[in-house]
Amino acid sequence: MLSNTNVLLGVSGGIAAYKAVALTSKLTQQGANVRVMMTPSATEFVSPLTFQAISRSSVYVDTFDEKDPKKIAHIDVADWADIAIIAPATANIIGKITAGIADDMLSTTLLATQADVYIAPAMNVHMYGHPAVIRNLKQLEDWGYHFIEPGDGYLACGYVGKGRLEEPETIINVINEHQSDNKLLASRKILISAGPTREQIDPVRFFTNRSSGKMGFSLAEAAAKHGAHVTLVAGPTEIEVSHPNINRVDITTAEEMFEEMNRHFPYSDIVIKAAAVADYRPKHTYDEKMKKQEDEWNVEMERTKDILQTLGEKKTTQYLVGFAAETSDPLKNGLKKLEKKNLDAIVINNISTEGAGFGGDTNIATYVNKHHKSEEMTLATKQEVSEKIVSFIERDMKDEV
Ligand code: CTP
Repeated sequence: MLSNTNVLLGVSGGIAAYKAVALTSKLTQQGANVRVMMTPSATEFVSPLTFQAISRSSVYVDTFDEKDPKKIAHIDVADWADIAIIAPATANIIGKITAGIADDMLSTTLLATQADVYIAPAMNVHMYGHPAVIRNLKQLEDWGYHFIEPGDGYLACGYVGKGRLEEPETIINVINEHQSDNKLLASRKILISAGPTREQIDPVRFFTNRSSGKMGFSLAEAAAKHGAHVTLVAGPTEIEVSHPNINRVDITTAEEMFEEMNRHFPYSDIVIKAAAVADYRPKHTYDEKMKKQEDEWNVEMERTKDILQTLGEKKTTQYLVGFAAETSDPLKNGLKKLEKKNLDAIVINNISTEGAGFGGDTNIATYVNKHHKSEEMTLATKQEVSEKIVSFIERDMKDEV
């Protein structure tokens, strides 16, 4: 799995730094391209020359040691890396990443990289159990960092307990397993709908809802980052897409969304319906602006098509994920939609909760698959929630293979 993968190995200053030498050797044996970056304290335990000899590559320690004037080293390595492993990760480097501190080559590069980062902590058992470290690890997990938990055993400090750096073989196995899960989305076709729809009454008036499109757009970005080819059918929104693997199709009405979703559906492996589709539209659309009258104006509304239900009825191999926006009894109502629309999973939002639902940058949601396995996502940014949803889909699809 790691063959031809660009691996940045970050070594921070703990006695377990010696095990990172064996890890470097095993990674290169697997065909990975390894570049080692050390904190100044790590060099007190192992010489950079040892890593240089084994990785066959220069070792980075000093942010200002710029060897190539055409490049800025920490950005160059951050962009080059497919994955980053921090082994051993001391409480100090974990704290720095959590706080956004960039005061040496390793912490600076870690802030700059978009690579998957795997953290293998190693420290004294009481340090590992300290509330600050626990809080920092939880924060990093919420941001999408991955962990190789330390093992139990004799620690160099004389204590017995949790805090020993995992063996290099185990670190590599965990990463290999995770990367193979991650690759599940590579080159898959994902169809996502996002944003509101707009249902016109006359040239100046329309019905719509408060959806901003942020959830659907960040799902599209997360899926594209996992290597998927994304078609994003978007209602009217201000948001821009940045990833080259996202093909954006703009629509305005529920009927146009219905057409586009159905057109792309047969060629899609995964379909996620995050859009807030209007359930009703005006029965008559006027070509001219309606003049006001002395009387009331009653607009007669008719039902739009339920796009998700239509897709659920005709799905073959597609993995179909819906959203549910609920203000009461979210789990019960969400599960009803899961069954009724023949979905593989549903993301249930209680939109009456502060921090969840329409418009904002955060969400609180529960992902439930068709076997009723559920995952609660506590208050987090829509990017973090998207990362989690994408990994739940990957996990569930893998389980079904
Ligand atoms: N949906 C759809 N087409 C519609 C209405 C909803 O595809 N005409 C999809 C949404 O994109 C979402 C899911 O159905 O994935 C649930 O939407 P929601 O608004 O929560 O529920 P409704 O099905 O509209 O039911 P209700 O309004 O009764 O809650």
